[in-house]
Amino acid sequence: MIKIASSVLAADFARLGDEIKSVSTSDYIHFDVMDGLFVHNISFGIPVLRSVRKVTDMILDVHLMIDSPSRYIKEFADAGADIITFHVEAEAYENINDVIADIHKLGKKAGLSISPDTPAETVLPYIDSLDLVLVMTVEPGYGGQAFKKETLPKISFLHNIINKRGITCELEVDGGINVETAKLCVDAGANVLVAGVDVFDAVDRAAQIAKLRSV
Ligand code: DX5
Ligand code: ZN
Repeated sequence: MIKIASSVLAADFARLGDEIKSVSTSDYIHFDVMDGLFVHNISFGIPVLRSVRKVTDMILDVHLMIDSPSRYIKEFADAGADIITFHVEAEAYENINDVIADIHKLGKKAGLSISPDTPAETVLPYIDSLDLVLVMTVEPGYGGQAFKKETLPKISFLHNIINKRGITCELEVDGGINVETAKLCVDAGANVLVAGVDVFDAVDRAAQIAKLRSV
């Protein structure tokens, strides 16, 4: 089954509670944390997540675009994250297994993300212990960018590995997702689609979520 993660980066932050309710038919709420270092943009962080946790029971899919995420795992877990995904490029190589283990010790699901220029092979040493791999289909940092088709082979490659190993790791894609690019990703083997602008700019958000889910 295809899951939709609505990205609140595209929401009206002044009305965040209502915006989250308006996408309650999605499977996850995708929460993009940006620190102005790993990516240029600065979005929102722990206090906002804590507030969001109070107004929804939906699964909170936290995407950390921050340097050295090991510093903040406990804070995001305590603030209410259900899935914590960090970037392989943002953490020292020798810490990555420990970060995944820390997320699991806190009772949360662990995801690892790769930017468009990062080879898919980078996640292979960790894939058996991951709940989710996130393939960025745009450069991390901003919503509303055009989908990068050159990322599709990485999605197929990781899908094949997950199938061959018989593991239950989800394969999520993020950036530039609309009905057309969602189909390309699903055909390549993705099972979780992050959508920001495509959902939040739709006149009927529930209908758009349903459309994306059934590409
Ligand atoms: C970009 C973020 C995305 C963003 C996607 O760095 O990780 O989650 O919200 O936005 P759209 O779907 O508008 O491309
Ligand atoms: Zn994201």
